[in-house]
Amino acid sequence: MGDLETKNLAESHAMVGGYGAQSYAKNSSYQRAVVNAAKEMVKDAIADKLDFKTLEFDASNTFKIADLGCSTGSNTFIAVQNILESVEQNYLNEHQNPSTLEFQVFFNDHYDNDFNTLFKTLPPSRKYFATGVPGSFYSRLFPKSTLHFVYSSYALHWLSKVPQEIVDSKSPAWNKGSIQCTGFVKEVAKAYAAQFKNDMECFLNARAEELVGGGLMVIVISTLPNGIPMSNTAEGKIYDLLGSCLIDLVKMGLISEEKVDSFNFPLYYPTCEELEEIIHRNGLFSTERMKVFAPIVPGEMTFSAERSTSQIRAVFEGLMKEHFGGEFIDQIFNNFTAKQLEETFLKSGVLKNHNKIDLFIALKRIMN
Ligand SMILES: C[S@@+](CC[C@H](N)C(=O)[O-])C[C@H]1O[C@@H](n2cnc3c(N)ncnc32)[C@H](O)[C@@H]1O
Repeated sequence: MGDLETKNLAESHAMVGGYGAQSYAKNSSYQRAVVNAAKEMVKDAIADKLDFKTLEFDASNTFKIADLGCSTGSNTFIAVQNILESVEQNYLNEHQNPSTLEFQVFFNDHYDNDFNTLFKTLPPSRKYFATGVPGSFYSRLFPKSTLHFVYSSYALHWLSKVPQEIVDSKSPAWNKGSIQCTGFVKEVAKAYAAQFKNDMECFLNARAEELVGGGLMVIVISTLPNGIPMSNTAEGKIYDLLGSCLIDLVKMGLISEEKVDSFNFPLYYPTCEELEEIIHRNGLFSTERMKVFAPIVPGEMTFSAERSTSQIRAVFEGLMKEHFGGEFIDQIFNNFTAKQLEETFLKSGVLKNHNKIDLFIALKRIMN
C-alpha cells in the first residue's frame, strides 16, 4: 500500500453533480455523442484483440472493467454496457456458455465526484457488479494484475495540476492575461506539454501494473492537429471568451487582476504525435488501434448560447467556484451567454468544422 495515493483534493474539479438543469448529466450531449461514436471501434477492438486463451482470471471467473473519469451517468453506463456486450459476444464465440463469466465494473472519478447520483441512476437491468473507486487515475487505483479492460473517455486532457511556472510572475512561462494554454506563447505551451507528458507517463505506468497481460485499454481524447494553436480552435476561442468575462469583472473592480492571472485551466490537448511518442517511450503497451473520429454531431444542430453556457458551466463551475468563490459565478456565466450571442464565429457554423480532433486509441498490455 506504500505508494498508493493519499487523498488529494487540490487536483479534483468534479463536474456539476445531480440531475438538475445545470448538471453534467443533463449537459454532456457532446461527450455522449463521442461515447456513441466509439461503440463500433470498441466492439471491433475487443473482437480482434482480446484473446481469452491468454487472459488471466481469478477463481470467480470475473471480467473486470474500469471506466476512469466516469463522472455521473449516463455516458459511462452506455460505454460500459457496450464493452460488456462486446466481451460477452466474444466469449460466447469461444466458449458457447457465457453465463459462467461474471462482470464487475469499477466507476472511477475524483473524490468529490457525485457518486451518489451515479449509484442512484445505475441501470436496474445491469448484468454487472458495480463498484465506485474514488481517486486520481494518475496514481494506482487497483491491485496488481486485476483489470481486463480499462476505458477512459474525455478525461485525460485534464492535467493533475496547472504547471507551477504558469502562475509564477517571474517565469517566462507566466500565463498572464489568459486562462488556458492558447498555444501562442512558446514557454507556456512547453510547460503545459511537459506536465501532460509527466501525467500520461504516471497514467500508463499505473495502468500497466493493474491490467493483466493481454488486457485492453481504450482511450478517447481530444487532440490538436500539428501546428494549430488551441486558441485557433472553436473550443479554444470559447475558453478565451470565458476568460474575457473574468477580465470584465476586473474592469468593474469586482475582483483583482492578480486573481484572474492566477487562474488557469488544468487542460491540455496534445497532438496525436505527442501521444504516440509518450506511449512508444513508455513501452509497456502495444498500440492496436489509433483512429480519428469523423466530426461528431451531438444531435442539436442549431447553436444555442444558453445551451453552450450550460455545457461549459457543467464542466468548469466547480473549478471556478473553488478559485473565485460562488459570489460572481452567475454573473460570469450570464455575461458569457451574452458574449456568445454576439460572436459571429459561433453562429456561422465554425463549431461544426472546428480543428480539434477526437482520437480513439486501443492499447494492449504487453505480456511480461
Ligand atoms: C468531461 S468529464 C467526462 C466524463 C465521462 N467519461 C464522459 O465521457 O461523459 C471528465 C471527467 O474526468 C474526471 N477526471 C479528471 N481528472 C481525473 C483524474 N486525475 N482522476 C480521476 N478522474 C478525473 C473529471 O472529474 C470528470 O468527471
